[in-house]
Amino acid sequence: MLGNFIYYNPTKLYFGDDAQKHLAEALRPFGKTVMLAYGSGSIKRNGVYDDVMAALKEAGKSVVELSGVMPNPTVEKMEEGVAAVRANNVDFILAVGGGSTIDYAKAVSVAAGYDGDAWRHFWVEQADPAPGQKIVPVGAVLTMAGTGSEMNGGSVITDTATKMKIGKVFGENVMPSFAVLNPRYTFSVPQRQMVAGIFDIMSHIMEQYFSGDDDSTSDYLAEGLMRSVVASSRAAVKDPMNYEARSNIMWSATWALNTLIGKGKTQDWEVHMLGHAISAITDATHGMTLAAVSPAYYRHIMGYALDRFARFAHYVWDIPTEGKSDEQLASEGLFALSDWIKEIGAASGLRELGVTEELIEPIAKATLISDSGYHTLDFAEVVDILKESL
Ligand code: NZQ
Ligand code: ZN
Repeated sequence: MLGNFIYYNPTKLYFGDDAQKHLAEALRPFGKTVMLAYGSGSIKRNGVYDDVMAALKEAGKSVVELSGVMPNPTVEKMEEGVAAVRANNVDFILAVGGGSTIDYAKAVSVAAGYDGDAWRHFWVEQADPAPGQKIVPVGAVLTMAGTGSEMNGGSVITDTATKMKIGKVFGENVMPSFAVLNPRYTFSVPQRQMVAGIFDIMSHIMEQYFSGDDDSTSDYLAEGLMRSVVASSRAAVKDPMNYEARSNIMWSATWALNTLIGKGKTQDWEVHMLGHAISAITDATHGMTLAAVSPAYYRHIMGYALDRFARFAHYVWDIPTEGKSDEQLASEGLFALSDWIKEIGAASGLRELGVTEELIEPIAKATLISDSGYHTLDFAEVVDILKESL
């Protein structure tokens, strides 16, 4: 463990099949006016909305509703939220939904206290809020496992005008104050979304695992989490009502991206850069974009870190090492990853996400390049990886 770091996470978690019972108590310390942010209405169909409204009532809050937060939330939608916060003097934002709704709540919480072009300042220029800038506190009721947004500072926003999708990782002052995690709330997630969320979790772990070469506790934690995700995914795909599997998936998602397993390490995130560019241009589902490009990307960089990919094969996929070279093991590990993508029904190629040959170049141009993985891609390599992923 050669890196130096500070570890602190301010998000209080309430986990379990009765977690919502704590929502009123969690809301109480915050101001009276709560903005309830949610998506297209799944929470009204599965009863989560009723649970949340009851808790808001019990806590004595007045509620301003902001619905229609879309997957891949946009700058225009963020501006609508900012106007609602300002017009109603909102004291607290409660996000009820998946990563899009929680990311959105964080975006509004920061943008509402900033006089200027928030998209340009925080996302394009990656600025942090100035000390003393007002930030509306956020809480979350998670309904879909995947992003880890419930316990991190990430907020990914899309500008439809310029077709740019950018993630900003804010600090502790923007991370949710609390998150309610009831695995039963995820039972109504359509199977395809569940699978997209599962691959997103796996990708978050791989993005942090495939970087750095010192012996690090963080990597052993990552391997344990990946084993759990693979085992639980198999059970959940067979039986989506398997509480044990769905609860493991929810808990793994939170720990995959709440900063813990990235501590003391460099991290890659190139798969996410590719995925964001694909979503910016096609509006494809986040986790599916990652599944479509991961095998080709990792095959491409495998040669720069054969020992790490060999370790991945053995410790994550249980591939026996005897008599095999690192190269052989590394490629067997990546075959296991591709087989698992097919087995759970994640996207095996970009065509199924609406990507055509003509879109390869614009996607490649919109792909940001990470220089902290095992290899820094050039433009031609990005094009090759996208073509191989079709
Ligand atoms: O609109 P609603 O009704 O909420 O329906 C959603 C949406 O259609 C539905 N859904 C969620 N919970 C449900 C449900 N349907 C039935 N029952 C439930 N219980 O699922 C669909 C997808 O929801 P969304 O929130 O978009 O999914 P996800 O959690 O995968 O979030 C994706 C967004 O998060 C960003 C992604 O880029 C994308 O914009 N990310 C955020 C990160 C972070 N904050 O750290 C990191 C990730 O890498 C990711 O980039
Ligand atoms: Zn992700």
